[in-house]
Amino acid sequence: MRGGGSDPVREAARLLAERRNAVALTGAGISVESGIPSFRGAQGLWGKYDPMEYATLHAFMRSPGKVWEMLSEMISVCGFASPNAAHAGLSALEKMGVVRAVITQNVDGLHQAAGSRRVIEYHGNLDELICVYCWKLFETRKRWVIGEVPLCDCGQILKPNVVLFGEPIPWPAQEQAEEEARTCGVLLVIGTSAQVSPACDLPRIAKESGAAVVEINPEPTQLTRSVADVYIPGTASDIVTRLVGLLKHPSPGTGGH
Ligand code: APR
Repeated sequence: MRGGGSDPVREAARLLAERRNAVALTGAGISVESGIPSFRGAQGLWGKYDPMEYATLHAFMRSPGKVWEMLSEMISVCGFASPNAAHAGLSALEKMGVVRAVITQNVDGLHQAAGSRRVIEYHGNLDELICVYCWKLFETRKRWVIGEVPLCDCGQILKPNVVLFGEPIPWPAQEQAEEEARTCGVLLVIGTSAQVSPACDLPRIAKESGAAVVEINPEPTQLTRSVADVYIPGTASDIVTRLVGLLKHPSPGTGGH
């Protein structure tokens, strides 16, 4: 893992310029600057709601109304959030031909709102509701009213089409994400604590397939020493914005597009 002495941002820009086919893997940290709390850490959502009580499929089947207390808060907060400079920067890097896909663990839809076109929603999204009995799908904005628990036409309680603990990753998303990790030249890992599998396995898959792994996070994670080739301590909006600038206006050693 490089960082420290040389400027890790310039090192990352050089890797992005030299190796085509970068892919981004994002976590809740990229949306913190949009006002959406992360899950872990000081102000994390799991500090307020015990995930074993509020974020497992078992909890939802046992007490859907209780789980909907947490879900309502997530939907409301995400509904008022806008993309920040990091989301915009990844969209710009896609338009520049630097980043070819974003794999996101987030369910807030902010990458698409920022203009990213190839987004793999690894944990689903809050825009859809699904019936776990008859599998019917609904648009959240047309079926959910704040403070109420939405019902399917079959009478059962609907669940946002997000992956709760104990649920499998949607197979198309898992297959596409692993293919992107296996074939990318650089994996940009942004704003994830890398504690939840199988998403946290993707950086190792990329590394073992020959990609350079660049980690952007104010705090080091389990990836920093064991997987990351370059660790950039900093916020997503600041670092992604700097990368876009270096790639748009290259100076010796950072290449450019
Ligand atoms: N810029 C970049 N990273 C940040 C910022 C920021 N401004 N602020 C915080 N971070 C980092 C934190 O240091 C932390 O490492 O973002 C990470 C957020 O970690 P988590 O809250 O654990 O979120 P995430 O890694 O996305 O969680 C993965 O766990 O609970 C499940 O399904 C949920 O998708 C989620 C998964």
